[in-house]
This record gives sequence, structure tokens and C-alpha cells, in this order.
Amino acid sequence: MHNGIIENFKALRGELTEAGARLESETDTEVVAALIERNLSAGMPAEKAVRKALARLEGAFALAIMICGEADTLYASRRGSPLVLGFGDGQVSLGSDTLALCGLATEVCHLEEGDFAILKAARAEIFDENGKPAKRPLKPMTATAGQLDKGNYAHFMQKEILEQPTALADTLGKYINPLEAKVELPELPFDFKEITKVNLIACGTSAYAARVGKYWFESYARLPVEAEIASEFRYRDVVIGEGELNLFISQSGETLDTLVALRHCREKNLRTAAIVNVAGSTMTREADVTFLTYAGVEIGVASTKSFTCQLMVLAALAIGAGRARGVLTKAGEAVLVQALEEIPAKLAEVLYHDQAIRALSAAVSKARNVLYLGRGCLYPVALEGALKFKEISYIHAEGYPAGEMKHGPIALVEEDIPVVILAPSQGVHLKTFSNMEEAKSRGAKIILISDAEGVREHGPGTMATIIMPSVPDIALPLLYAVPVQLLAYHTAVRKGNDVDQPRNLAKSVTVE
Ligand code: M6R
Repeated sequence: MHNGIIENFKALRGELTEAGARLESETDTEVVAALIERNLSAGMPAEKAVRKALARLEGAFALAIMICGEADTLYASRRGSPLVLGFGDGQVSLGSDTLALCGLATEVCHLEEGDFAILKAARAEIFDENGKPAKRPLKPMTATAGQLDKGNYAHFMQKEILEQPTALADTLGKYINPLEAKVELPELPFDFKEITKVNLIACGTSAYAARVGKYWFESYARLPVEAEIASEFRYRDVVIGEGELNLFISQSGETLDTLVALRHCREKNLRTAAIVNVAGSTMTREADVTFLTYAGVEIGVASTKSFTCQLMVLAALAIGAGRARGVLTKAGEAVLVQALEEIPAKLAEVLYHDQAIRALSAAVSKARNVLYLGRGCLYPVALEGALKFKEISYIHAEGYPAGEMKHGPIALVEEDIPVVILAPSQGVHLKTFSNMEEAKSRGAKIILISDAEGVREHGPGTMATIIMPSVPDIALPLLYAVPVQLLAYHTAVRKGNDVDQPRNLAKSVTVE
């Protein structure tokens, strides 16, 4: 069993076929089997044959290997991709994720980079990357089979969208002191007063959370921020000063693009921190400090509750940084914390639009393209809305900063194209209404997501309106994320797509 990519498989394949091996597929995985087989045929004992084969591999992989005639033994090794051992009830099991071992294990142990393990009966021997016997900490299995059950929900994604009020309350509860209306962060290995810049680094939906975070760190802590796509950040000749904080964001804590970027910073002795949902995952073990989100297990490939929980932690961190740097007063902090405290209840109100959005998805599911527009902190939410939509509905969608439309993308606006407008009637968002009019006058079907005042003033002539609660700026991205999640979900269901397991995608992307 192989997870990951053997990057030098073409060279190995050439070498093996030249030596007379007959390979039956084009897969990189078969090359591993063929290497082991060649070693066995040369008379090596099984363990040596496996170790020697592993030494030839380049790339990122987790492997579980069984040799014909040795049915009581499994060999396992990880490089890049995660691998977890589970112990319980007289057995040892192996999985690429703790959740996979639910019901099989009462204790788990994460293999470390380069580890090699031999599993026999209920025992496992572990060796480190230098071949020396190694001990890895055993942790109790915290996931329960109940968390893997979608109950009466049609899909995990639906369950996870609807769980957001609780997930957000749980997450916020870990980062604030409600009695004093202030942020309380875990002990930090750095002082925000000394931080000169924050680099927020992530992939996919987590990278959109990073982009929202940029607005908050700039506004509330007056810190310069770069929001970076991990796979680009790692391979650019990026200039990072010693005073900078490199904050990695990931639901799984295993995304390889993000992980290699984190390791790159560690190699350069730069400060690292991580916002992660899966406790015990590789990033939580490698970053200097971890801020967990408490979204609970997220199974649907499309991230929903983990996104809003990442936003909650970012908001708390930005406020904490603002206070530490003397940008926010105690009273200013209290106002922001109170706004965060109201989010779970307000989000529950937004969920009442579920059925209206389901009805709306009938028209949207017939579209070939959909545009999402927002400004300021709702621009990343427009990007996230488009990602969620294309990822599970398989309909092309793009998110844009509303002001950028007239610089090119407006050419895409044709009769009947659905355009989702994220625009509360406050601040910079008021400008989005003019951009909405530009699209409307060219025949776009507008779906306006705004507060009561925005809908009253700008709703006439739109295809649909969704009335959102009026909330302070800091709460906007968390609440406006919900209708775009629901629109993606209902459209995908209507199209008969596999919502929880969309084509070509995996929940945890452990290849570069
Ligand atoms: O586990 P991570 O947050 O690191 O995952 C990053 C992306 O792969 C992930 O957000 C992906 O974009 C989701 N499928 C989006 O819904």
C-alpha cells in the first residue's frame, strides 16, 4: 500500500526493466514492489530487502509492505506522508490518519520522518532514519466511532456546515476570557512586541483564511503581513527577517506543501507557529507553537467548519497581538472580543437560510460559470466561495475583488451568468454595490448577500437576496462564509455529485 509519490520512479523503472524485470503497470508503486522482489531474488532476507529498496526511493511516501509467505509481518515506512500505528485489543494496526484506526486502536503513535517499523502480531519495532531503534510517544486514541457517523444528515459536509455554531463556540472558548472580555493565548515562545512582520502560509481554503487574517493583523496589530501559498513560498527566494513570525495554517496538519514550507523555515532557524485542527498531526509536532482549532473531526473533503474556526483563531491572535503591541486599548479589545462572542449565535441565524439557498441552487446548477465578488475582508471569502463551489459542483467559478472587475473579468459577464455579491452596507463594502450594478446591467443574475439595509436598497432587480445579520467588521468573514458554503453544497447535491468525496480530490494532500 502506497500513499504519496516516488519521484525517481522513471529512473528506477528503467533500471529494473533493463535488468529484465517485467512491470505490469505504469504506477510508481509497482516499482517499489519490483525493487524488493529483486533484492529477495538475490537472496536477501525480507527485512534487508525492504530496507535496501526504501533507501533507493526519492519523494514523499508512506508505505505498508507485506511479503508473500510472511503473512504475519508488515513493514512500514514514512517520508513526507503521515503514518500512524494503532495498538489495542491484542493487535497492532497501521493507518495514514488516526481516524482510520478508530475502533481498532485504543492508543496511537505517529511515526516520524524517515522511520521504519516492523509490525508482528500485536507488537511493533520502530527504527529511526539512521536505522537505530526508536521510541515514539504513545497517545490515547481520542477520536470515537461516533465522530465518524453522519447520523441523520445526508452528507458529512452538511453536518459540518450545521455544526459551525458549536465548533466556533468551542474554539473561541479556548482563546478568550469571557469574564474580562479579553483574549487569552497559550504561553508564546515569542513576544508580539518584537515581531516585525507576519507571514501567513497555507494551501487551498486555509490560504483564504490566511488572506482574511492579513486584514486583521494589519488593522488590529498594525503588523505588515504577507499571505502566502505554501507551494510558492517554499520555492521562491523569499526574504525573511529574524523578527518575522511564520504562521502556518492547516486543517489536517499534514498537507505536504505547507509542511515543507514549515520545515524550510525551521532549517533556517526562523520562528514558526501553526494553526491546526488535528491535534498530534505532523505540523503540531514540528512548529514552535501550535494554536489548535476545535472544529472537531472534519470528514467532508470540502473544508467548512475548519475554515471558520481558523478565522476565529486568527481573529483572536490578531487582537492578542494588537493588545501586546499597544495598538489596542483594553476597551478596544473588549469591543472586538464581544463581537467574536456573538458570532456562534449569529451564525445559527444565518443557517436558517438553508432551504432558501437549496431552492436557489436549482437555477445556479444550470450555469456554466459563476462569479463571486467582494471587497476588503470579504474578497478572500469570495475566493473561498468560488473554490468551494467548483470543488464539489464541478461548475467553473471565480472569485474577484469587486473593484477589479472592470479591469478585465467583466468581459466574462454574459446574459444570465450568476454573480454572487458579498456586500454588507458598511465601510468599503458599499462600493461593491456599484460593481454589482455594472454586472447587473450586462445581464448577470445577481445573488445579493447583504444585511437588511443593503437588501432593501439594492435588492430590487436581483435574482435572489440573502439577508444577513448586521455585525461589526470582524464578524463579517465568518458569517458570510456560510451562505457560500450552502450554495456550493446544495448545487452539488442537486447535480448528484459525490459531495463528501469529490472527484480527483483527497481530504489530506500529502504530495507536493
Ligand atoms: O488540511 P489543509 O487545511 O492544509 O488543506 C489545505 C487544502 O488542501 C484544503 O483546504 C482544500 O483546498 C480543501 N479541499 C478546500 O475545501
